[in-house]
Amino acid sequence: MAREQEAQGAQVSEAQIAVHWREEEYYHPPARFIGQANAADPAIFERFSEEHFPECFKEYADLLTWDAYWHTTLDASKPPFWKWFVGGRLNASYNCVDRHLATSRNKAALIWVPEPETEDTQAITYQELYKRVNEFAALLRGLGRVKVGDRMTFHLPMVPELPVSMLACARLGVIHSEVFGGFSGAACGDRIADSGSRILVTMDGYCRNGELIDHKAKADQAVAAARERGVEVEKVLVWRRHPGRYASKSPMVAGRDFFVDELLKDYRGQEVKPVSMPAEAPLFLMYTSGTTARPKGCQHSTGGYLAYVAGTSKYYQDIHPEDTYWCFADIGWITGHSYIVYGPLALGTTSVMYEGAPTYPDPGRPWRIAERLGVNIFHTAPTTIRMLRKLGPDEPKKYDYHFKHMTTVGEPIEPDVWRWYHSVVGKGEAVIVDTWWQTENGGFLGSTLPALKPMKPGSCGPGVLGIYPVIYDENRNVVEAGSGRAGNICIRNPWPGIFQTIWGQPERFVQIYYEKYCRDKDSKDWRDWPYLAGDGAVQAADGYFRILGRIDDVINVAGHRLGTKELESASITVEEIAEAAAVPVMDELRGRAVEMYVSLKPGLAPSKDIEDKVAKAIEAQIGKIARPKNVWIVPDMPKTRSGKIMRRVIAGISNFADVGDTTTLSNPEVVEGIRHHVQGEKLSRGQVPRELSPQEMEEIKAFGRAE
Ligand code: WTA
Repeated sequence: MAREQEAQGAQVSEAQIAVHWREEEYYHPPARFIGQANAADPAIFERFSEEHFPECFKEYADLLTWDAYWHTTLDASKPPFWKWFVGGRLNASYNCVDRHLATSRNKAALIWVPEPETEDTQAITYQELYKRVNEFAALLRGLGRVKVGDRMTFHLPMVPELPVSMLACARLGVIHSEVFGGFSGAACGDRIADSGSRILVTMDGYCRNGELIDHKAKADQAVAAARERGVEVEKVLVWRRHPGRYASKSPMVAGRDFFVDELLKDYRGQEVKPVSMPAEAPLFLMYTSGTTARPKGCQHSTGGYLAYVAGTSKYYQDIHPEDTYWCFADIGWITGHSYIVYGPLALGTTSVMYEGAPTYPDPGRPWRIAERLGVNIFHTAPTTIRMLRKLGPDEPKKYDYHFKHMTTVGEPIEPDVWRWYHSVVGKGEAVIVDTWWQTENGGFLGSTLPALKPMKPGSCGPGVLGIYPVIYDENRNVVEAGSGRAGNICIRNPWPGIFQTIWGQPERFVQIYYEKYCRDKDSKDWRDWPYLAGDGAVQAADGYFRILGRIDDVINVAGHRLGTKELESASITVEEIAEAAAVPVMDELRGRAVEMYVSLKPGLAPSKDIEDKVAKAIEAQIGKIARPKNVWIVPDMPKTRSGKIMRRVIAGISNFADVGDTTTLSNPEVVEGIRHHVQGEKLSRGQVPRELSPQEMEEIKAFGRAE
């Protein structure tokens, strides 16, 4: 009650986001974890303090093997185009593969778990990875068309051929651009065109939810889409999921399409010397936010990026060479690039990859994998955690695995879900890091250092080593820690993992990330160029940040700016609810009203009673102002490749507006069912829509971060 009054009373200005979270309790890392941690001495905070910036990052760069050492740690003379480790030369493929041969030739670099349980797990040693990478690099070179700095697009699923292809490109100095395998051919074609790739590397099929999916068909659509945008793909290289056996119905185009397993026969045993690249040469592009505007190809560097992911993997993932580390994410997402491939392999550890769906053939699957392989570090996203909690809440208990460390990444985690992760998945034994960062960032920005700081459910923690965040309000004032007010989280300094630019769109890079808080655009001092992350956040008195979600995800109800995550966390406290998404709906009286979409735990039937409970929970935890106009119980939410709910699509449905492009959804088929149900019900409730103004239409389209 007291909290409700507080929320009602907490009138906030347009520039602020109302915050109603309560402070959560601390959890302390187990002594056993602290005893073995890579970072267990608090002196590390001093080493990375602002006073030692930027030289502190030498510690990360020294984890790598350099062909030539750098002379300048940070060249900030052309803000915001930072250059790290200038003068240094290295090769990423050499660092992730060759240099481990001397000590770890026979150790598994990758353990690949195919989705069908009837297929054997493949352990690929560093020696074998070396061979595969070299042979594929030789093949690419043999095509006679690839040179340093060229771009090459991959549209590959979660198979070992993906890291092999990445590392082969890196070996040659070719910039790879992996498009998430679940994306449509059209989305892939757009990214091929944007990056100007002439070669597409794909696979005939892959296993997902018990089916062998025809993937090559998408390559034909991609080539056609790229052609429409004036870029001609010359070669399509097709790996086969089962070499020798073609799984697709799509015909191979003579002179354009080639089976990689057939071509490779000519390259057996060939070696390619790693090309020594300048530290600031681009290593790869990773596209983000591609549906409402031109996709943004985030360009990542070789030296700075690799140093940053190696350093954060060591201290924040606590990876030791003998650990078995499993990041359960897709390599088509930045998390997979940094924390399945480049970070763990740079450290010479064993990185597990899984091909399929989390709950195939049943929700015990991840824990069987963990038990069988002896995984002791586990890394995944809240969406997967929620799904496993929904479908198999008691499964972890049935398996004998022990995690020392777990990660959550990708969106704010509801404290209730965090507690389930900790007690059930982690069996109370594992330390958790909640890592906040972005495709643009290369590696973590906010997290606790696992042995040295307590955990707090729902908060990512302070800025990571060498990252100095600040929260600004709309008027450029600093929002102080402990003030209870939220604002725009920014990073005051450059760091080695930051992307270099948006491929081909440098003005947009400056405008989106730097313009808003730049103090003087002629200044050559990095201190005048804070990086705008685009997330709302609040900082508690202890210095921990709680991320509210994208700034665009705020719902303004009669002048109260409500964070979607708060509404969703409140909904999830209702026992029956598995997942929740909040969207705005145009409202004559209040400007915008809140509308909730929820899905239920299995075996439960939708009921008016559950809808009421959700509305009550929101009213009690946030305030009357937030009471949803409708609560829609749906079987599943439209989601992106990384499992984020695509709020823009359901916001479109709620407002009888265009749902926009759905080709980048992982489950586009759910959209029609939701639309039919929600719009039919609205009409029968007499909620006849009024026509939206063009501006309102834009707002709905932009709602949520489009992937
Ligand atoms: C959100 C993912 C809260 C945030 C690596 C960010 C998070 C966007 C967290 C980037 C977290 C990511 N807590 N929010 N631990 N991690 N986000 O580019 O809104 O797919 O801006 O990169 O996800 O998503 P992206």
